[in-house]
Amino acid sequence: MIGATFSKTFLEETIRDTSDREAVKVSIENTPVEAGKRLRVGVLGCGPIAQAAHFESANKACNAELYAICDVADDLRDRMAATHAPSRSFKDYDEMLADPLLDAVVIAISDTFHVSAAIKALSAGKHVLCEKPIGISVEEVEELARAVERSGLVLQVGHNKRFDEGIQSAKQFVEEEMGELLALKAWYCDSTHRYVVTDAAQPLMVRSKHAITPGANPKADLEKYFLRAHGSHLLDTARYLAGEIAEVDAKFLVRFGAYCWFVSVTFASGAIGHLDLTVAVRMDWHEGFQIYGERGSVIGKTYNPWLYKSSDVDIFHETTGQMTRVLGADGHFYRRQMEGFADVILQGASMNGANIEDGLASVRGMVAIAQSAQTGKPVSLASVTGDL
Ligand SMILES: NC(=O)c1ccc[n+]([C@@H]2O[C@H](COP(=O)([O-])OP(=O)(O)OC[C@H]3O[C@@H](n4cnc5c(N)ncnc54)[C@H](O)[C@@H]3O)[C@@H](O)[C@H]2O)c1
Repeated sequence: MIGATFSKTFLEETIRDTSDREAVKVSIENTPVEAGKRLRVGVLGCGPIAQAAHFESANKACNAELYAICDVADDLRDRMAATHAPSRSFKDYDEMLADPLLDAVVIAISDTFHVSAAIKALSAGKHVLCEKPIGISVEEVEELARAVERSGLVLQVGHNKRFDEGIQSAKQFVEEEMGELLALKAWYCDSTHRYVVTDAAQPLMVRSKHAITPGANPKADLEKYFLRAHGSHLLDTARYLAGEIAEVDAKFLVRFGAYCWFVSVTFASGAIGHLDLTVAVRMDWHEGFQIYGERGSVIGKTYNPWLYKSSDVDIFHETTGQMTRVLGADGHFYRRQMEGFADVILQGASMNGANIEDGLASVRGMVAIAQSAQTGKPVSLASVTGDL
């Protein structure tokens, strides 16, 4: 798996020429990790997701520090620097990347800029944690995958639900006990009341009129926006639990301002599935999944992430006739994601988060769903091309 065996690779930050990497990697493997080393993280973008998740996560993480922040908007950046106290504050991304003390970047900017920002960071020898979706076209993400491979660095995609202990308990059951998978249903239905919930739970968002925005307003095309913002989470959760998706067959309907995708899925294993992406349902946040397996079943209820509450996941064990549910007391998925990322780099831990292949599969899935909904025909993920 890409990025799974990079103990001590933070030492690679000085290595720019990829031809030297293999030789250097061997010597790095034998270099002891500096005791108490924390990953020095620089966050690109001081927008809502950085304010709600990444600044706090880097400051709270047991193995990382908020070393730098970067935003072109002076007013926003200065205010965030005053609040979150990074060691360095940059207006210019290239200058942040040139800082030899920086180990890794968190890319917290608009989807359309993810791939170019990630390639820049890798070229500068920095590890990358990039917000989801990793990109908006199959081709650009394939290009990024090649850059990750060449760099030998770690790239993790911000599919934060993989750090929800409830969802992790389902994954463990599937892998270790459940046996053969028959079917998975998963649903992700945003709520008409979501901003009432998030406004109460999140810090007050600070905005700047000097912020960089993509040319066109991403929310001008809600069909694309919802597939990117929410569909990418749904697809990643389905793949995380049930494996590779081979084909999708989507139906799509818009009524009274609500967008609904019902997607029949065939997994590579031959198991079947159903994905429901609806934005927004006239009720509370409604997200979860159901798994039917050979030696048990799982039903999971996932909460709005800003409530920091792990999913309620009930696992029925056919052999004992018992039901189990993990408490999952630590529901800070974003901090747990940061700590997992730092562990891969500092300790050579295997990656629990989504790697570039997972990110690419989500993008293929989004594009395939959009094309299937448009043509009324099933679309294979392996052959899908284009963008969303
Ligand atoms: N994982 C989750 O739960 C979750 C939730 C919400 C959003 N997101 C993701 O977060 C991303 C959007 O984040 P946002 O809404 O905070 O973004 P945004 O576009 O509102 O803000 C980005 C900030 O970065 C700055 N910026 C952009 N490019 C820059 C550059 N090259 N150099 C310096 N500064 C630059 C802008 O000035 C702006 O202030 C999306 O990818 C979205 O999918 C993830």
